[in-house]
Amino acid sequence: MVAEEPSKIERLIRPELAALGGYSAHKSPDTLAGRIAVESIIKIDANENPYGCSPRVIKALAEYKNWYAYPDAGQTGLRRQLQGYTGVDAGCIVAATGSGELLDDILCLFLEPGDEVINCIPTFDLYRFRTLINGGRLVNIPRGADFAVDVRAVTAAITPKTKMIILANPNNPTGNLTPREDILELAATGVPLLIDEAYYEFGGETVAPLVNQYQNLMVLRTFSKWAGLAGLRIGYGILPAGIAAYLLKIKLPYNINMAALLAVRESLQDIDYLMANVKAIIAERERLLAELKKLKWLKPFPSSANFVFCRVLEGNARELYQKLQDRGILVRYFDQPLLENGIRISVGKPEQTDALIKALQEIED
Ligand SMILES: Cc1ncc(COP(=O)(O)O)c(C=O)c1O
Repeated sequence: MVAEEPSKIERLIRPELAALGGYSAHKSPDTLAGRIAVESIIKIDANENPYGCSPRVIKALAEYKNWYAYPDAGQTGLRRQLQGYTGVDAGCIVAATGSGELLDDILCLFLEPGDEVINCIPTFDLYRFRTLINGGRLVNIPRGADFAVDVRAVTAAITPKTKMIILANPNNPTGNLTPREDILELAATGVPLLIDEAYYEFGGETVAPLVNQYQNLMVLRTFSKWAGLAGLRIGYGILPAGIAAYLLKIKLPYNINMAALLAVRESLQDIDYLMANVKAIIAERERLLAELKKLKWLKPFPSSANFVFCRVLEGNARELYQKLQDRGILVRYFDQPLLENGIRISVGKPEQTDALIKALQEIED
């Protein structure tokens, strides 16, 4: 087959974007419907919250009527509520449609074409993707044993062109935390340091209270995981006040829609309910880890998030993923460098763990 010539209009597209590989998002159950011949799907592939959101959110959205009106562009009430939740001044907080959008805004704020972003791989692929979209150059620093950040290699990689160091803490997909001393050592370099705490509520470690002590320290958070609001797209950043002001200036005006505003308000009034679910997920994570350890052909890694990463020691991760999918169990598999033969299992409800372990035992036999 002869490759089609790009059309006249396609030739006007920025060449570096035309050539860019996309981001591989997980498949929604709708996309899979009809392709999996089982009645119920156990979806433990995208680190979603198996208990869903607060019932207060569902009620508030069902009762709200004023959808015709734009939401508050300045996010005033929302930022005040987030001040209450985080203990950090509202002037240091900016919200976005998922923490991914804020990552994009921060890269847009700092990067000029060719500026370097240090990325501690293996990690969340969105950092690569949005750095390249924003014209940056990736400097990948491999993590060491048990996926620990190589602080010495990161600091050695800093050049006058380095505009950002990005670190997920806990890391996705490996689940490990970076010690606080290491983060502070990186902050002391003066390079803008973005700590992605998407899974903070499951690990309990944060540097958010320090954002006003370091001019270059920025923290990303999300409601997608602990509050079960991935479908509504709401995240936020905790940043030095000066940077927050710039981000408020450059963001899309009404980025947080009314449904998300209501959802945050209601979630923050139902903290006890949501935190009980977080506690149940943490307990289930430990049980899942213990069960996986019993299977000698898998090597699970300890996790401070709501998922567990495993190496498949005997056999092939892609085949295992396929065999689980045939049984209606969706997990994520990896085959890129440093994650070879890996699968990531999101923590589900106890009955979902039981079904997964039973399926793994059957596959083993
Ligand atoms: C490390 C990390 N950061 C951010 C996100 C995305 O969060 P959000 O749904 O707020 O865009 C994820 C989602 O899986 C993640 O793993």
